[in-house]
Amino acid sequence: MSHVNATRLSQVNFRAPDLDQMQNFLTEFGLLLGSRDAQVLRMSGHGDSDCIHLTELGEPAFVGFGLEVADDDALDHLAFKTGKKVDDTKHKRTLFLCDPNGYEIAVTAESPETRTPSEHSAPKINYPNVTNRISETMRRLSGPSHVLRLGHVVLNVASFRESESWYKSHFGFLTSDEIELEPGVSVGAFMRLNIGNTATDHHSLFLLEAPGDASFNHAAFEVSDVDDLMVGHDHLRQNGREHSWGVGRHILGSQVFDYWKDPWGHELEHFSDGDRFVASNRPNVATLDDLLGVQWGDIHPLMRAAEEIEL
Ligand SMILES: [Fe+2]
Repeated sequence: MSHVNATRLSQVNFRAPDLDQMQNFLTEFGLLLGSRDAQVLRMSGHGDSDCIHLTELGEPAFVGFGLEVADDDALDHLAFKTGKKVDDTKHKRTLFLCDPNGYEIAVTAESPETRTPSEHSAPKINYPNVTNRISETMRRLSGPSHVLRLGHVVLNVASFRESESWYKSHFGFLTSDEIELEPGVSVGAFMRLNIGNTATDHHSLFLLEAPGDASFNHAAFEVSDVDDLMVGHDHLRQNGREHSWGVGRHILGSQVFDYWKDPWGHELEHFSDGDRFVASNRPNVATLDDLLGVQWGDIHPLMRAAEEIEL
């Protein structure tokens, strides 16, 4: 085995000084309590009991994220390749790596036997020529969205090419869309998992070389459907949570999106109906306008600011 591919983005890891506040926010955001002790809060999605958002008690910070590889052999191979030791003292055997920006990547082996696929029934939507719902009403209960899983992580990185090369060589990521500032000048890329012919998200990781130090940009969680996203939007607004962008439909990735901030300003996204690709899809080159633009809905705060300056 010469190459190891990541097979799943498993969780995002933060530090925060108040686990009660974090739990309250994440509950309103649509996650469920997995487990909690004095030091660590683990939140899961509605699909299964896996932790998808972890907070350790401490100064507010983004720590890193978790990736899974196919099995223990792949994990051991990656450990050999990186010259690191797998930590056997954790709940799951974990290989801790440090990316070029200083973020901790916690690598574990897939454990499909412990994860039951989420039961998700598609909403019955009526269209002009397709009747999926007859003699039934549509009633969506108010309350939090139903977060099903973690979809992607976005990092502002010091050097796009250095980070891209690290993630591709360690985990086999594939480029879906590379962003050019101008022809020949690339500043980032949406990258997906290489899991062969199995459909996977347009991106599980997006790296963007932005001015300033490397920093966390956002993490995105998939909700049941677009109605569920809108119901959750109302719920977060009614609870006075800080909104940052949305609702709209992205161009690259096509998701319907809605961005919020946790109590320490870390941005979390709800999304629904994103594109899914397979390994054989060719990479595409896109522009900054494609990145920040929308198919419909709220325009990006940076574009709004630029429009206001022009007025
Ligand atoms: Fe996103």
